[in-house]
Amino acid sequence: MSGDTRITIYYGPLSWFEQRVGKKKKSEGLLEAIFARDESFRQLKVVVPDRDSDADKIEPKRKRPKRLVAESGDYASLQEHAITNFPGLVQAHNPKELLLHNPPEHVHEHLKRIFAGSVEVIHYDYPSVTCSTLVKFRDDFAKHLIGQENVKESLLAALYPLTRGSRSKPVVTMFYGPSGVGKTETAQFINGLLGGALMRKQFSMFHNEKFASYLFGGGHSEPSFAHDLLDRESGVVLIDEFDKAASVFHSAFYQFFDGGVFQDKNYRVEVGRSLIICTSNYGSEKQIRDELGDALYSRFDSLIRFEPLSQDEVTAVIDRLVDGRFEELDADERQRVDAAHVKETLYPLAAHAANVRKLGKMTDELISTLLVRDLLSENRPRDVVT
Ligand SMILES: Nc1ncnc2c1ncn2[C@@H]1O[C@H](COP(=O)(O)OP(=O)(O)OP(=O)(O)O)[C@@H](O)[C@H]1O
Ligand SMILES: [Mg+2]
Repeated sequence: MSGDTRITIYYGPLSWFEQRVGKKKKSEGLLEAIFARDESFRQLKVVVPDRDSDADKIEPKRKRPKRLVAESGDYASLQEHAITNFPGLVQAHNPKELLLHNPPEHVHEHLKRIFAGSVEVIHYDYPSVTCSTLVKFRDDFAKHLIGQENVKESLLAALYPLTRGSRSKPVVTMFYGPSGVGKTETAQFINGLLGGALMRKQFSMFHNEKFASYLFGGGHSEPSFAHDLLDRESGVVLIDEFDKAASVFHSAFYQFFDGGVFQDKNYRVEVGRSLIICTSNYGSEKQIRDELGDALYSRFDSLIRFEPLSQDEVTAVIDRLVDGRFEELDADERQRVDAAHVKETLYPLAAHAANVRKLGKMTDELISTLLVRDLLSENRPRDVVT
């Protein structure tokens, strides 16, 4: 028997779920309810037959919970058997209402079978690309990135299909090119236009057997890509350093890149009309094709090449970097170093470092060196220490 529990399953970010549930009063955590029930079973009661004739005193009646709530991270604390027989758990507690956030696929399917008509599913509406996103992207690109004009044009074309309301699958792009020329920055810029904390996974961080369980699913309490996708806030999914994933893992992405469905042993997610950006340091389309293989290569909707920066662009980056760093200095520090001198010193050094990340570090080092030199110089009046 399935009782009259009303079940609502929410798929989306935690902040959104909390907002929806926060409005509802008298909610109780499912985990707390389970612990409290287990605890009550552990209590030992001595019954004296003549004195304690009332049956209620032997097995105290629990009040029926009004509303039980489980968040995405809660399932990890449940035992495997509780996940396998989730409807049994619900029936034991028999709440009037049950609200579940991003549950494992098995839990969803099982509840649907047992509670049939009483299960409602609500999906979060992720931010998606509109015409005004394209306009902002075009107009503000130069504020974030110097150079990379081709990137701007190719990306506008790649994003366009996402503006169609009828589209139900993602656009998958590969950003490739040398290090430190704006690939991750561009992904962050687009996501900033859409809103929500960017979902960014760095594949170089998983280079062992843990990666297999991360992608294909392990125990239901282990971290997984599918679960992270369910919890994401952003309309953009950034897979950084895609070239660092070993080829045995490539097949995990076929279905995901085709139709936006990612399924592992425990979780299933459909990302719909999203933007998936993979970044890599490949040098050419040919290299991408050779290293990823035709099957994966052909699943990218677009391949966007990031060029090394020209000498003029590097000069412009230095000007921007130094001005930015000077704004962060104290008024007193700004008096002690000359921005023009810092720039002049950096220009010739930059010929060997078109990687903007490295330029940033060089700028910081140079400014600190000049400041500390000035601080310790003989002529400078010292603070009086009492
Ligand atoms: N073309 C550019 N114009 C202005 N700033 C840039 C440009 N390219 C990179 N930067 C800055 O340099 C830093 C590193 O850039 P980013 O992280 O985008 O590099 P990347 O291309 O992703 O490199 P990697 O392949 O090593 O991941 C960031 O702070 C970014 O803002
Ligand atoms: Mg990067």
